[in-house]
Amino acid sequence: MFNKRIKIKELLAAEPQQQQVTVMGWVRTFRNNQFVALNDGSTNANLQVVLELGKFDEELLKRITTSASLKVTGTVIPSLGKGQKLEVKAETVEILGDSDAEAYPLQPKKHSLEFLREIAHLRFRTNTFGAVFRVRHSIAFAIHKFFNDKGFVYLHTPIITASDAEGAGEMFRVSTLPFDKTPRDENGAVNFKEDFFGRATNLTVSGQLEGELGATAFGEIYTFGPTFRAENSNTARHLAEFWMVEPEMAFCDLEDNMNLAEEFIKYIIRHAMEHNREDLEFLAQRLADEEKQLPQDKRSEMGLLEKLEFVLNNHFERITYTEAIEILLQSPAYKKKKFQYEVKWGIDMQSEHERYLVEKHFKKPVIVTNYPAAIKAFYMRQDDGCEPGRETVAAMDILAPGIGEIVGGSQREERQDRLEQRMKEMHVPAEELWWYLDTRRFGTVPHAGFGLGFERMVQFVTGMGNIRDVIAFPRTPKNCEF
Ligand code: 4AD
Ligand code: MG
Repeated sequence: MFNKRIKIKELLAAEPQQQQVTVMGWVRTFRNNQFVALNDGSTNANLQVVLELGKFDEELLKRITTSASLKVTGTVIPSLGKGQKLEVKAETVEILGDSDAEAYPLQPKKHSLEFLREIAHLRFRTNTFGAVFRVRHSIAFAIHKFFNDKGFVYLHTPIITASDAEGAGEMFRVSTLPFDKTPRDENGAVNFKEDFFGRATNLTVSGQLEGELGATAFGEIYTFGPTFRAENSNTARHLAEFWMVEPEMAFCDLEDNMNLAEEFIKYIIRHAMEHNREDLEFLAQRLADEEKQLPQDKRSEMGLLEKLEFVLNNHFERITYTEAIEILLQSPAYKKKKFQYEVKWGIDMQSEHERYLVEKHFKKPVIVTNYPAAIKAFYMRQDDGCEPGRETVAAMDILAPGIGEIVGGSQREERQDRLEQRMKEMHVPAEELWWYLDTRRFGTVPHAGFGLGFERMVQFVTGMGNIRDVIAFPRTPKNCEF
């Protein structure tokens, strides 16, 4: 058997008792022809492997270069070196794969995140990305655990669909039609009847509509999968391909929905704090170092761990959209004309407005509810008793410091007539969504759900400023490498 190895994380937690072990990993550094810092990805901490002088071949020693892969068997002994309790005294060293140190792009020095994005195939081997992706994994695991423990059914909704769940028209077309000889119908329009599925199809922007079908049978479901948006947004929080978690609950109103979302976010943070302490401490230090470069007024008031702790220990502020606009209109920022975009009832709040509410005014996560119907999707439940011209829906967005919108959700319009009316007004084709409308015909129930942007959540927990640095291979406008 080849893989009789101990992972370095496990080994570093053990006591040095002269035990024989085999470790495998990649060389981070090799000093004085004696000391190898070996990393196997299980932790950022390297294992010190000591090669006794004179014991190993010159030829072999020359091949121990940065990023070469090694199999080492030896004895675990107490370490005299600083900052480590044990090390491995090598008996045999086998080079599994050589690495040309001159050509290897990752030098043992600080590289910029921008540069590392260009070598995303190797960046997992850095401490920063090692930590980020272990935390990302841990959060994904926590999400499944949270819902599983509550009895939600994990529903796999389709990636290819024929509908636009959000009605925003930001879809990637899926087609096998030839580009040069597209079949046309009698009106000259592309004839999708000849396409693979016999109709126009696209990559999903959200699994919600199918999620509602599941919720109205299982009671509570969640989805967790990739979603795609062809929005041309080149920002630090938009991806063309991102992962979304969408719970959907029958017998649930807007308040239940908010309670679940808040509990969920706190659960994720707590899980990461408990299971990824070492990586979070590393990321906190990284962020603190990065912020030292910034002018005083641009630095965060709290360190990463402090911020996470603070979120855990405080209620999310809950305000209506109308109250949010009022706060903005009363703000010094507005009075001093600091906002670039207009503020008035009915606007789709811009990121500067959301940031003001969260970072300046409340200084904590904020749930904004009851948005104007005109700026929200067709499926949201219409609020009763609105002033004419000020129609709102039972929507809720959660805004997080440094991130902006992290969750978007709502209570759904369960009343068939109201839903059909709204679809007509918003030009959503009812005949294509006949199956969705069936849930309202056959035992409709009050129900609600939300979508959490997984990468934005990972950004929040890791403190990474750019969403491209929390997904392995980011897809953004004009960029699809790897
Ligand atoms: O607010 P959104 O568009 O809501 C929905 O799709 C609903 N169907 C969710 C539901 O109620 N089941 O998206 C939900 C979340 C946003 O709050 C944001 O965190 C994230 O998905 N998101 C993005 N993340 C990265 N890149 C993008 N382009 C994103 N667009 C939305
Ligand atoms: Mg939204």
